[in-house]
Amino acid sequence: MAKDGNKSGWKEFIWNPRTREFCGRTASSWGLIFLFYVAFYIFLAGLFSVTIYVMLLTLDDNKPTYQDRLATPGMMIRPTGEDLEIIYNKENTESWESFVQALNNFLSPYNDSVQEQNNVECTPDKNYIQEDSDSVKNIPKRSCQFKRSWLDECSGLNDLRFYGYDVGKPCVIIKLNRVIGMLPGKNGPAPSVSCGPKGDDGDKMGNVTYFPANGTFNHMYFPYYGKKAQVNYSQPLVAVKFMSLTLNADVNVECKIIAGNIQSNNDRDKFAGRVSFKLRINTKN
Ligand SMILES: *[C@@H]1O[C@H](CO)[C@@H](O)[C@H](O)[C@H]1NC(C)=O
Ligand SMILES: *[C@@H]1O[C@H](CO)[C@@H](O)[C@H](O)[C@H]1NC(C)=O
Ligand SMILES: *[C@@H]1O[C@H](CO)[C@@H](O)[C@H](O)[C@H]1NC(C)=O
Ligand SMILES: *[C@@H]1O[C@H](CO)[C@@H](O)[C@H](O)[C@H]1NC(C)=O
Repeated sequence: MAKDGNKSGWKEFIWNPRTREFCGRTASSWGLIFLFYVAFYIFLAGLFSVTIYVMLLTLDDNKPTYQDRLATPGMMIRPTGEDLEIIYNKENTESWESFVQALNNFLSPYNDSVQEQNNVECTPDKNYIQEDSDSVKNIPKRSCQFKRSWLDECSGLNDLRFYGYDVGKPCVIIKLNRVIGMLPGKNGPAPSVSCGPKGDDGDKMGNVTYFPANGTFNHMYFPYYGKKAQVNYSQPLVAVKFMSLTLNADVNVECKIIAGNIQSNNDRDKFAGRVSFKLRINTKN
């Protein structure tokens, strides 16, 4: 008996025909609960959107909100990228033509005509400051010309189109990675590149010549304002021409940036402000 009563009580709980209640609530009561949750979730979604929107408003498109304290910029070389080795045989055109091709491609945007079209002539030896005023953004920001012809014997122009690779006096091009806002050598001489033999390869490196003269990155190329604000920015370059490299030998070279406010001898970071690479030019015999 008791069992039967329980059973019908349970059934009645699910659907009570007398009161027309489903699970103890009337249709309108269920409707209200449903409405409440719909409203509640719409409210949560709205709150979330507003939060994200407000956060995005505080970001500036043109510069990172948070950036590590200016550490030391990395340096890169061309014609090689990651592997940092230039090994070829002087007499074997095929062994060096890929280097020449890589330099041609890399320097193409630096063609004098391209630079004249995209960039402006700046006043050398001083930083090219283009700050925003309080409310008006000073964009787009202009960039200074860096002309391929300034690399002279390493420009690949005219009769030097093999960048010296064919005669065992190869050019290596060095660039400093972009760091927004960096002013290397601020209040002092312009930053410059200096290359020397590494380890016991002392006299194998021979003499080097830098282009532009003294291997400097002119002050006018700094600061860099970021890809979006400064669309046509061309990183300044320094070319190093190895004039009297010992042939048929591994020559390890290290190039460093010299600037009053940049450290290039950090033992923990071997790529900060310097780059090392291996050169080896073989001859047929
Ligand atoms: C740059 O100059 C080189 C040599 O004169 C030429 O072969 C190349 O097509 C030029 N590139 C551009 C993008 O103008
Ligand atoms: C960037 O280069 C393009 C193409 O020559 C030019 O139209 C534009 O004005 C340049 N922008 C700036 C900010 O110099
Ligand atoms: C390097 O340059 C110095 C000075 O210009 C010169 O005296 C020397 O002979 C050169 N060394 C080589 C190996 O060419
Ligand atoms: C290169 O350095 C020398 C000596 O420091 C200096 O006399 C000369 O003016 C510099 N040349 C350029 C183009 O900066």
